[in-house]
Parts: sequence; structure tokens; C-alpha cells
Amino acid sequence: MTDTSLNVTLGRLRLRNPILTASGTFGYAREMAPFVDFKELGGIIPKTVTREARIGNPPPRTIETASGMLNSIGLDNDGLDVFIQKHIPYLQELDTAVIANIAGRSVEDYQTMAAKLAPFEKLAGLELNISCPNVSGGVDYGTNPESTEEVVRAVRNACDHPIIAKLTPNITNIVPIADAAKRGGADAVSLINTLQGMAINWRTRKPILGNIMGGLSGPAIKPVALRIVHQVKRAVDIPIIGVGGISSIDDVMEFLVTGASAVQVGTATFFNPSVSGTLTQQLRSVMQEQGIERLEDFIGTLRIDQQPRSPVMESTNIAKN
Ligand code: FUM
Repeated sequence: MTDTSLNVTLGRLRLRNPILTASGTFGYAREMAPFVDFKELGGIIPKTVTREARIGNPPPRTIETASGMLNSIGLDNDGLDVFIQKHIPYLQELDTAVIANIAGRSVEDYQTMAAKLAPFEKLAGLELNISCPNVSGGVDYGTNPESTEEVVRAVRNACDHPIIAKLTPNITNIVPIADAAKRGGADAVSLINTLQGMAINWRTRKPILGNIMGGLSGPAIKPVALRIVHQVKRAVDIPIIGVGGISSIDDVMEFLVTGASAVQVGTATFFNPSVSGTLTQQLRSVMQEQGIERLEDFIGTLRIDQQPRSPVMESTNIAKN
């Protein structure tokens, strides 16, 4: 089997293989070098960068839950200028695709950041975090089709990089949002960011996280992510990156067959720092075992024999028509 059998294409984004590391779970890559051979990866998405430095939310910022993790980091980062000076020189020398992840408080923030990142031709793309549940205004752009389209279009006009819109599950129907991202010029959508949640210490009668609420990730959210990938795949013609609870090769294959052209490994990296590299090796084996010659022929081949009966699925159909 040649290595090209693992190649995947998402709009203008071409990846060596579909295994990406999710933003916020892989630092700025340097810290992960002892654990992962980067050239085994389809790509790396470093922690979200904002226009100015942010100190993030008060501690505690993380808590383990049943089959998951709640975080309320609050986009703690040193800002775009430090990212450009300190991290891009390292990241752009890596033998893998690097997709910068950006978030802003305004359309102008996103546009300005995209313009500043435009000259870095070795960046494989920009992922727009319009779905962070932990900051004021963080999720707003991804909860309304008009603002999703506006912010994606502003970035589209500011740079030539492929654009991926990372969307929130914290809405009733994601289809109009994915459709708006496409209209704005997104090459792909990442589905999904974390689900808003809360952890309580009943003895102290207080919330555990310093910011009271946080974003739930990990195996607990995989069924939600699969459902959303399925809905968008059926209704919108846009490449999908699946995110949510991926820790095993079976998880990877489930997202690919449902219609994701690539996946992001996130929370699993916290309990197994080398998991993303391992998954690429396992992908080769499982393709051989299943007689899959080209991964792209396998993507989206889910067999559906009946129509679902649920309000959300019916509204999906309405959005399609
Ligand atoms: O709070 C955080 O930094 C998380 C970001 C996100 O989930 O997008």
C-alpha cells in the first residue's frame, strides 16, 4: 500500500492522512515532540490564538467527569504577535500540515488576524474558533447563520489560506450554520467544539470550575459529534472534520464512514500523549485488513436503510430543501 492511499482532500486543503490534533490539546507542538513523530500526522492545530494576549478564566479550569473532561480555560494565550514571533518559526519547519486556530471578539479581530497570517505560506489553513463556550462572545458567531457567514467571509477576503469553521453543538440545528459557513467561503467545517456543561460539589454547594460552566469533551460526547457529522453530511455539501471523543481506531473509522474526511484527536492526548501517531499506524493496518485501497473511497459510505423520525432530523430536511 502506498502512502498516497491515506491522502484526503478537504476543499483546497490536502492532507497526508486524516489524523489531526485538536486545538487546545497539543500545545504549540514543541511540547509534544517527545511523544509524537509529527510526520506521522495529517496535521497539527495549535491552541487558539487571539489578537491580544488573554489571561484566561479563574482556576480550577479543568475537571474530569464520567468518560469526559470539562474545561474552562478561557482562551488563555499570549496573543497573535507572540504566536508569529515565537511559534510560527518552529511550526512552519515541521514536516506536517499546520493549521492555525484563531478567535476574536469582533469580525474585525478575525479579519485583522487573518491578514497578519496571510503571508505565512507554509500554514496549511486557518481554523476559525467561533464556538468557544468559555469566553464572553466566544460562541456567538457560531450560533447565528448571518454572523457565521459574515465572519467567514471577512477572513476569506483577508487571506488565501483554506478556511475551516469550527462549529458549536450548543444549538438546536447546526445545518443552517454549516450552510452559512459554506456561503461565507469556508473550505471545511470542524464538528464539534465542546458541549456546555457544569460540575458541582454538593458538599460545598458550589460549582467546581472557577468560571462555573465549562466545555465537555472526551468519549462522553462522541455520539453527539457523530450525530452532527451525519446531519451536516446529509444536508450541506462541505467537507467535514470530525471532532469529539476520538481515542481509538474504531472511533476514527466511525467518523470517516459517517462522512468526515478527517478527524481531530483531542482529549485522548491528555491520557495518552502519543495516541495521534499510533492512530495513523493503526489506520494503515485496518485499511489493509478491510481491503480499503484508498481512504477517500471509504469516507461517507454509511448505509442508511430508513429515515429517522425526530424533530431535529426533520428540520435538517427542511434546511436542505
Ligand atoms: O476555553 C478554552 O480555551 C477553550 C476553547 C474552546 O473550546 O474552543
